[in-house]
Amino acid sequence: MRIPFIAGNWKMYKTVAEAVKYVKELRALVKDVEGVEIVLAPPFTALHAAAEAARNSKVGIAAQDVYWEREGAFTGEVSASMIREAGAAYVILGHSERRSLFGETDTTVNQKVAAAFAAGLVPIACIGETLDERERNETFDLLDRQIRHGLGALTSDQIGQLVIAYEPVWAIGTGRNATAAQAGEAHGHIRKRLHQWFGPDAAELCHVIYGGSVKPENIADLIAQPDVDGALVGGASLDVRRFLEIVMRSRGRDAARAD
Ligand code: PGA
Repeated sequence: MRIPFIAGNWKMYKTVAEAVKYVKELRALVKDVEGVEIVLAPPFTALHAAAEAARNSKVGIAAQDVYWEREGAFTGEVSASMIREAGAAYVILGHSERRSLFGETDTTVNQKVAAAFAAGLVPIACIGETLDERERNETFDLLDRQIRHGLGALTSDQIGQLVIAYEPVWAIGTGRNATAAQAGEAHGHIRKRLHQWFGPDAAELCHVIYGGSVKPENIADLIAQPDVDGALVGGASLDVRRFLEIVMRSRGRDAARAD
């Protein structure tokens, strides 16, 4: 049984002091909360301090990117083992902002996902179509390509440990979330492919979460979809009370599905 997975992607927001204050507040608010995995992804500068503040709590910490080499002359880059040592247990990979602004491709995702696993990090691998691709009816082909090329080298065991974030690019930061039906359809497709290509156990264990304008007002509908296992939350994760609201509402998943 996959428990809901809710991750806050802070992007390039929050200083060290702001990150620590937030994490301390959140850890107290969720100390008795069961049945949901909670993760925050601060910028690199706040990673270690946030991980220290989250130690022995219900809050896990993720990096927002990683480089695939172990060490070397790669100015500006950070390795998976450095991220692990800083206290993070997860890493976001292939976010659409990395793809569109910084030249990330399925090939680099493939390298990064392998490096993350080798260092003991859980990858949160992002896939999703642009508005053009959706309007040309290419969504499923694009998702197939991103899974095959970005994640195709993984073993079934690794797929079972992976988190895939389906983030339609047109829904990110736009206030325009996919409808529950659109998300459900895409997630169902992804789950079907995982089953075909990696087997039933991998498909059953892999978390497929939705991202793109998730907020307290829409999380219940999204998570009620059978293949939506949680959310990657950008803007609405910056405010601890709004993020908490999303976390709490995601726990109503089983009740919502039974309606
Ligand atoms: P958003 O961002 O919630 O602000 O749309 C989601 C993401 O980019 O992960």
